[in-house]
Amino acid sequence: MSKNTPLRHLAIIMDGNGRWAKQKGLNRTKGHEEGAKVIHDITEYCVNHPTIETVTFYAFSTENWKRPKIEIEFLMKLLDKYLQNELLLFQEKNVAFKAIGDIKAFSKPLQQRIYDVQEQTKNNTKLTYVLALNYGGRAEIADTVNRLIAQGKTTISEKDISSALQTPYSDVDLLIRTSGEMRLSNFLLWQLSYSELYFTQTLWPDFNAAELDEIIQHYHQRKRRFGGL
Ligand code: IPE
Ligand code: IPE
Ligand code: MG
Repeated sequence: MSKNTPLRHLAIIMDGNGRWAKQKGLNRTKGHEEGAKVIHDITEYCVNHPTIETVTFYAFSTENWKRPKIEIEFLMKLLDKYLQNELLLFQEKNVAFKAIGDIKAFSKPLQQRIYDVQEQTKNNTKLTYVLALNYGGRAEIADTVNRLIAQGKTTISEKDISSALQTPYSDVDLLIRTSGEMRLSNFLLWQLSYSELYFTQTLWPDFNAAELDEIIQHYHQRKRRFGGL
């Protein structure tokens, strides 16, 4: 393992739930249900990993409102149930949960669930688990700049933006996208500027800790130069 590339922040675009279900002749919602189980396993892997401090999962983009209402409603219900169940894991494994994105667009009870889980886990220290919900990278940057202006800043530096983002933890070291699509879909644009990117054909419901472990081995083979030699 190369010592100059510690993996501290892992980010994942969980894609392919719908195609997974379709291939099996099932409703798209079944794919989302299976996908939620995979997040649980991957979280446990991250808790046990020696260097991962933050894992960020893309769960719902600002563009996903374009989907049929019935699918969106299902996703919201699933998220609520998932968070309710996952609180136990977060507490047992010392995981701090944090949502990023504009959750004010969600129903009041769902917002409350999100705030409750954040509040109850905020002092946990082993892993920061970030869930991107109604999240868009461009919206995040624009909001951040507006907040800085409201604070009276007239000239805004890169450092100002980095430290005022909703995700001030650290830049992403490794981004994984499942399902074979090779695009960012408006995820963490600022934080991904020097990340290593890894695309796998595996559909999210079929993804597992063994594959993640293999990808991390590949990550350690990469030479990150950051513009240097
Ligand atoms: C990812 O799977 C989950 C969300 C975006 C909520 P998709 O639902 O995008 O699955 P595909 O890409 O249609 O297969
Ligand atoms: C990206 O997946 C968003 C999430 C995984 C939450 P999409 O399936 O929405 O992205 P596109 O539409 O293929 O770019
Ligand atoms: Mg998709």
